[in-house]
Amino acid sequence: METFDQNNLKSLVKKFLVEQNCLKTYDHCISVGDYAYELGKNYLDEPDKARTAGYLHDISAIYPDDQRVDVAKKMGIDLYKEELELPMIIHQKISKEIALNEFNVTDQAILSAIECHTTLKEDYSDLDLVVFIADKIKWDQQGEPPYIEGLMVALDHSLEASAYYYIDYLLTHDIQVIHPWLNEAYVKLRKQLASV
Ligand SMILES: [Fe+2]
Ligand SMILES: [Fe+2]
Repeated sequence: METFDQNNLKSLVKKFLVEQNCLKTYDHCISVGDYAYELGKNYLDEPDKARTAGYLHDISAIYPDDQRVDVAKKMGIDLYKEELELPMIIHQKISKEIALNEFNVTDQAILSAIECHTTLKEDYSDLDLVVFIADKIKWDQQGEPPYIEGLMVALDHSLEASAYYYIDYLLTHDIQVIHPWLNEAYVKLRKQLASV
């Protein structure tokens, strides 16, 4: 894989997002990337990949929700009906395309972590889990996330337990649309956790 100079990537992400008035997203991306790197040290051979994925995971914030269906279609991205109902969710797939086409990220593992950072997916990797969880811990809203305590307790057990806790929280607290990948990840995580 290519190796990225992380500081260089950081300044490229900053330029890209700040030019589009997305400074808050920039701060969020850096905090998720740095946290994913720290968390990833415990689980990954190459925690740098988690940082790269984190830095880029919300890069698609330059497109507001009402443009995301059109943008995705122009990029040739296949969409589920759930994504048409709630275009916010498409941002994970658009971020992956931008990472590939504008930032020349070709590492499939990094692209995967970007692409499923909101919903996870059935065939998740440890890198996918690390970035998914880092995004939930360093969320992009004010204050502490309502699920944080339980998620951190679960994280003491495993990445899977933590991801399962979060998805279970979502499903039991008025979620608007259940993305098929989220549901598949939930079923798979439950099986994995039951078998240990
Ligand atoms: Fe996101
Ligand atoms: Fe995010």
